[in-house]
Amino acid sequence: MKQNRVIMDYKKFIAGQVESIKREVGGGIAINALSGGVDSAVLTVLAHRALGNQLKTIFVDNAIMREGEPQSVVNAFDDLGIPVELVDARKAFLKALKGLTDPEEKRQAVTQTFYKDVFVKAVKRSKATYLMHGTILTDIEETVAGIKRQHNILAQIGIDPEKAYGYKVLEPLATLRKDGVRQVARLLRLPKSIAERIPFPGPALATRIVGEVTEERLATVRAATAIVEEELKNTGAFQYLAVLLNDCATGIRDGKREFGQIIVVRCIDSVDARQATARELPWKTLHRLTRRITSIPGVNRCLYDLTPKPPATVEYI
Ligand code: XMP
Repeated sequence: MKQNRVIMDYKKFIAGQVESIKREVGGGIAINALSGGVDSAVLTVLAHRALGNQLKTIFVDNAIMREGEPQSVVNAFDDLGIPVELVDARKAFLKALKGLTDPEEKRQAVTQTFYKDVFVKAVKRSKATYLMHGTILTDIEETVAGIKRQHNILAQIGIDPEKAYGYKVLEPLATLRKDGVRQVARLLRLPKSIAERIPFPGPALATRIVGEVTEERLATVRAATAIVEEELKNTGAFQYLAVLLNDCATGIRDGKREFGQIIVVRCIDSVDARQATARELPWKTLHRLTRRITSIPGVNRCLYDLTPKPPATVEYI
């Protein structure tokens, strides 16, 4: 009974948001950027339902995505009948991240490159005056509380996007948390690969590299991420990820001393990412992960992070 009421509420939410997007945008053009995560995917489907070809959706390849991610996201939306333009901005992001090690500076570099450089050009090309954002309630709360500046938060921290960047921002998901977004995803009949997709942050693999983001270090964390996602996909955990630390440890490979890199694996249970606990993974799984991850060139340690949130956060920057 309660579940039915919840579903009805989300059905009403969808109808209400589709109407209000239509009303707000009118005959104009709106643009949104897909990150591949469930929030921006839901937003894209909702906005496409409201606006059809008045919506321009782009996917920015920022060089910090997972293995094969840009093309697989574009293909998944193509299957849904939603065209997505792939924008190759790898050089701009790598340049902006070069030499940065401070977590907030790295986040800022990604945000600034995205909004001030890449996105501005895409908005101009599209002639859009509305920007659709997949911001959810948790993003707003944590940014406002000063815990972490989420990539997609502008107005709530005093940035007027119309003045700063020349467009109005619409945030249809701003009252939902992650569990609500997934309910909406199911009701919108998004494929499981998207609706059940584990969260992935806007600043992407930059949040999982402690220290400088370089192409070489990206390749390492990308390889570890692919292994973790493959090994843990059937756990049903809220999120699982690999992090590259900015430290090295002595090890032995082929009988020789090696000062190698360290990967941390995280697998957490959570409802809405505000609090999280580490999953008690079987030793067999942990051993298999360790074996596979330490076969990545240059990596000779693999650690499992048991820290709950709080005091930790989910990501490392
Ligand atoms: P933290 O690390 O803050 O992460 O505990 C909470 C949840 O949010 C995701 N996350 C982000 N999502 N933009 C996003 O859209 C971001 O800048 C961002 N930073 C973290 C993280 O993956 C986790 O699910």
